[in-house]
Amino acid sequence: MSRTDDILFLSESTDPEKRELGIRQAQNYLEMVQLYNAAIREVSTKLEILDAEFSVRHDHNPIHHIDSRLKTVPSIFEKLRRKGYPATIQSARENLHDIAGVRVICSYVDDIYRIAELLCAQDDVRLIRRTDYIKKPKENGYRSLHLVIGIPVFLSRGSVSVPVEVQIRTIAMDFWASLEHQIRYKSDAETKNDVSLRAELKACAEESAALDARMQAIYRRLEKNRNAAKEKAGEL
Ligand code: GTP
Ligand code: MG
Repeated sequence: MSRTDDILFLSESTDPEKRELGIRQAQNYLEMVQLYNAAIREVSTKLEILDAEFSVRHDHNPIHHIDSRLKTVPSIFEKLRRKGYPATIQSARENLHDIAGVRVICSYVDDIYRIAELLCAQDDVRLIRRTDYIKKPKENGYRSLHLVIGIPVFLSRGSVSVPVEVQIRTIAMDFWASLEHQIRYKSDAETKNDVSLRAELKACAEESAALDARMQAIYRRLEKNRNAAKEKAGEL
């Protein structure tokens, strides 16, 4: 039985104390969903605005696309249990930084840092944690820039700072991470620990990083040529 069922089960209990607890938990859950969804929308809008402005000013869209997700209830409780925190909605809000997740897929590596910098420079964005798995990839080859940011959500009772995990990566990094996740998810323990398979996956990550670097170099050359042409035409 999942924890949502637990909440419903408690709410329907004939024991008034249990029922009271169940109703309170269900109410906390609904408030959390509303709050974190609002934070996801705010971050997504900020990113869309940055992308649109870039497109007008520089004739380039740094963002290829944006995905977002709210962590599911079973996954919230699994993580709380794994980390040894109390299994309540309140505890999830206090201890987990990735209930709200936004994934930003960029065209080039330079775009990742540009978007991260512009997002964090905004007055109402508070940087809580920054992990650069591009400069320092994970042992298995995983690459992405991870930010945890605090975003104010304005409610009738005032403003609440809500943490949002933002993962910024290129199309190539996303391609690798999606397949690696699927492979890991589908493998049994023995396959997961297979040294040659892990080495092969890591080699794929390195090849795709090399591809990212080459595509970036091509784009920089293109930009340079475009700017030189503009300068010649007296536009710069
Ligand atoms: P946990 O959330 O408990 O894992 O701890 P953390 O917040 O310190 O983790 P981290 O920032 O390293 O990773 C959080 C998220 O990044 C995961 O939920 C995945 O979405 C993604 N991620 C991290 N490492 C990997 C990886 O090796 N492979 C893939 N496919 N995704 C990863
Ligand atoms: Mg995390």
